[in-house]
Amino acid sequence: MSITNSVTEDEVAILLAAAGQAPSMHNAQPWRFEINGPVIDVLLDAERALPAADPAGRLTRVGLGAAAFNLRVAAAMLGHETTLAIDPDPAVPDVVVRIFLADRKVPVAGLGSLYGELGRRFTYRGPMADVPISARLMQRLTDAATAERADLRWLDDEQRAGLGSILRTADDRDIHEEDRLHERLQWIGGDRQAEGVPESVLGPVPARPAPVRDLSAGFDHPRRGQAVFEPAPIIAVLGTADDDERAWVRTGLALQRVLLTATSYDLAASFLNQAVEYPDLRDQVRTLIGRDTWPQLILRLGYPAEGSGLTPRRPWHETLNYPH
Ligand SMILES: Cc1cc2nc3c(=O)[nH]c(=O)nc-3n(C[C@H](O)[C@H](O)[C@H](O)COP(=O)(O)O)c2cc1C
Repeated sequence: MSITNSVTEDEVAILLAAAGQAPSMHNAQPWRFEINGPVIDVLLDAERALPAADPAGRLTRVGLGAAAFNLRVAAAMLGHETTLAIDPDPAVPDVVVRIFLADRKVPVAGLGSLYGELGRRFTYRGPMADVPISARLMQRLTDAATAERADLRWLDDEQRAGLGSILRTADDRDIHEEDRLHERLQWIGGDRQAEGVPESVLGPVPARPAPVRDLSAGFDHPRRGQAVFEPAPIIAVLGTADDDERAWVRTGLALQRVLLTATSYDLAASFLNQAVEYPDLRDQVRTLIGRDTWPQLILRLGYPAEGSGLTPRRPWHETLNYPH
């Protein structure tokens, strides 16, 4: 392996292991990485796109943004300041994010302190404990989104009720659309060693209708138990002022900053994205939260009432493109 100038072989392992811990839809891990001197490129791996659930590639780009954020966090822990460019070179459209590492100095405060949270963060699909999130902590999470030029809007009771009815429509569509069902079967359930979402982390089946996304809806998973979910979930919508390919990557950067900050306070999150995967329903969510923003992701946050396993990843070296 020829690793040049500022990134050593040990650092490559740390950086790419960190990047690979990012969340991605269906745990498809739609990324590859290329390292040239002090420059790390995050590339789209088109074979890992999800054409049925995500035809425009919006959620795929969110995953790439989250991986890029993890790279920045790991680089900061190692002492590298970073700058980042989205879609840096029109001649190479597969390169979605380019990160430039400055020479190594002392650990970079701020971002670097999130490094310890990378392996603690996980998507939690079970019921939350009956403990509120303090207003101060909510503000911290809102600030984390703002730092990446996104906005996090917390739903009030009325908005949550409105979202509930949109979610029911989405859930109903989800189990009737052949292409989506087929795609989910490819990625969700069973035992999985390196990619996809294993049955062990799907969480319990809600005993009563609940604002969770049952990724396995439409097919049987006999090993899962049942649980009653919190009656008044805490839900926030992550949005951006624009809705173009760059904004989708910025959403991923913001998502990961919010999630790692949340993890540092022992909070966990799950996704209710079925409501923003159908354009007409997404428009309804936009009306609900304010049409000055584009809803990108819907998060349910709280303190987990139960444990959950971790979702596996590919070994980092399988995601590295070797320099030509
Ligand atoms: C853009 C995006 C969309 C996602 N959508 C959903 C979803 O609708 N339902 C769900 O249960 N998880 C969703 N997830 C969570 C992924 O399934 C999860 O990140 C992945 O399986 C890896 O697991 P981990 O987050 O526990 O590391 C989403 C993640 C991302 C980044």
